[in-house]
Amino acid sequence: MNEEQRKQSSINILDERDKKAEKETKDYSKYFEHVYQPPSLKEAKKRGKQSVQYNDDFKIEEKYRNMGLGRTFLIKTYGCQMNAHDTEVMAGILSALGYQATDDINTADVILINTCAIRENAENKVFSEIGNLKHLKRERPDALIGVCGCMSQEESVVNKILKSYQNVDMIFGTHNIHRLPAILEEAYLSKAMVVEVWSKEGDVVENLPKVRAGNIKAWVNIMYGCDKFCTYCIVPFTRGKERSRRPEDIIEEVRGLAREGYQEITLLGQNVNSYGKDIEGIDYGLGDLLEDISKIDIPRVRFTTSHPWDFTDRMIDIIAKGGNIVPHIHLPVQSGNDAVLKIMGRKYTRESYLELVNKIKTAIPDIALTTDIIVGYPNETEAQFEETLSLYDEVEFEHAYTYIYSQRDGTPAAKMKDNVPQDVKKARLQALNKKVSYYSERAMSKYEGEIVQVLCEGTSKRDDTVLSGYTDKNKLVNFKAPKSMIGKIVDVKIDEAKQYSLNGTFVQQTQKTVVMP
Ligand code: 5AD
Ligand code: SF4
Repeated sequence: MNEEQRKQSSINILDERDKKAEKETKDYSKYFEHVYQPPSLKEAKKRGKQSVQYNDDFKIEEKYRNMGLGRTFLIKTYGCQMNAHDTEVMAGILSALGYQATDDINTADVILINTCAIRENAENKVFSEIGNLKHLKRERPDALIGVCGCMSQEESVVNKILKSYQNVDMIFGTHNIHRLPAILEEAYLSKAMVVEVWSKEGDVVENLPKVRAGNIKAWVNIMYGCDKFCTYCIVPFTRGKERSRRPEDIIEEVRGLAREGYQEITLLGQNVNSYGKDIEGIDYGLGDLLEDISKIDIPRVRFTTSHPWDFTDRMIDIIAKGGNIVPHIHLPVQSGNDAVLKIMGRKYTRESYLELVNKIKTAIPDIALTTDIIVGYPNETEAQFEETLSLYDEVEFEHAYTYIYSQRDGTPAAKMKDNVPQDVKKARLQALNKKVSYYSERAMSKYEGEIVQVLCEGTSKRDDTVLSGYTDKNKLVNFKAPKSMIGKIVDVKIDEAKQYSLNGTFVQQTQKTVVMP
């Protein structure tokens, strides 16, 4: 078959798929030819406390090794750091199969969309992206398009793609990324869309290859999933139950990164405070892990995200010791009102949150606290919202990520009637953002005239004679310095504070003082 015939035959297949999908609006079971259990929110909630299995046997099977030779891939990533890190794993697997990375979507042979389900607008962006790719698939029928990440775990999304987006070749979920080689092979051979979404989480798979996005900062997963079930949140369903990696595997990975010269790591989990609780037979939590990692020669260690409910004194003590664990804690509060916190299922009160904040500030006076806040929760009153504002004044957060509540199907909050009009929610978000800006600017202005330590990451986006990087408290700093300082921690004297960044003058490379706890 020549190129033109091949193209025509693929277009016919696509047209057939479209026609079939239009006709058969009810029964999609015939598309599920492969290992497929429909993602089920009901199932997710029933999960028990079965112990986690560790799979150390991952390897690329010989038969797949040359699959990507002469082919390219591109992954578009939406959402949180967990997703960004999953992209690094998928890039690792694709590279091990022989594919080359490309930035050009018009020539990429495999295009993966790594999706986020946390709010409706994140999902809408993804659907418009997949819609835009319809044209590309018609032009280049041999290109494979895959949808993965959190949205793939939602039954409604899988059904919508099956019905309306026949240009998609593969849908796979968050629990079976390691199956990518087999899924790709299936997609090359199959005329139907390949759907492989595990509704139950699998094992913790170790030894997955990774192509990290940079060589200065790295993400390290310490656990997967979330068992908190905050009533608004889809994550416990899309990411499954809490599963911690073994301490020795994490420590080995961090040691390896230190040997490779990485300057900063971020320990990742949906709620890292729960780390270790699910590992049978050992009494080892996040405090222990932070203590062990603080002994490794890597200058900066961050962790995210912490739930205020189980933030322990032990963790505060370790950060207070001033080793490589940075004095920055992201502590999502979500609301300042007790009744709203209760229906959110957050398991703490305004008072206990403030107590924790005071404890942290007393033990670590130079701590930078940041947070997440949701406004316009169903039936939130003006007075309840005012309590969020007043809590912000009490804590004086250095920054906050703020959101209007977004209804997520299948979550308990989605069943609540909501009497707050959207324009009221928008006005509340605006009022809150004004406060956030005020305190962010104030936090920045304190640095004027100070010398700060900056991990220099590269040249500024706007001006390549300017270098930029972040302080340990995650403040962006721009300054002129030799390019040889990229990848190093340097002293910078701050001349000017702006709302979201600082401008300064390079002083010198920071003299290394090792502070061991
Ligand atoms: N609507 C709005 N914001 C949400 N978040 C999580 N779920 C929702 C939702 N349904 C926010 C929370 C969380 C952050 C990652 O996203 O503030 O901390
Ligand atoms: Fe969602 Fe709550 Fe878990 Fe965070 S702790 S991922 S907000 S359920």
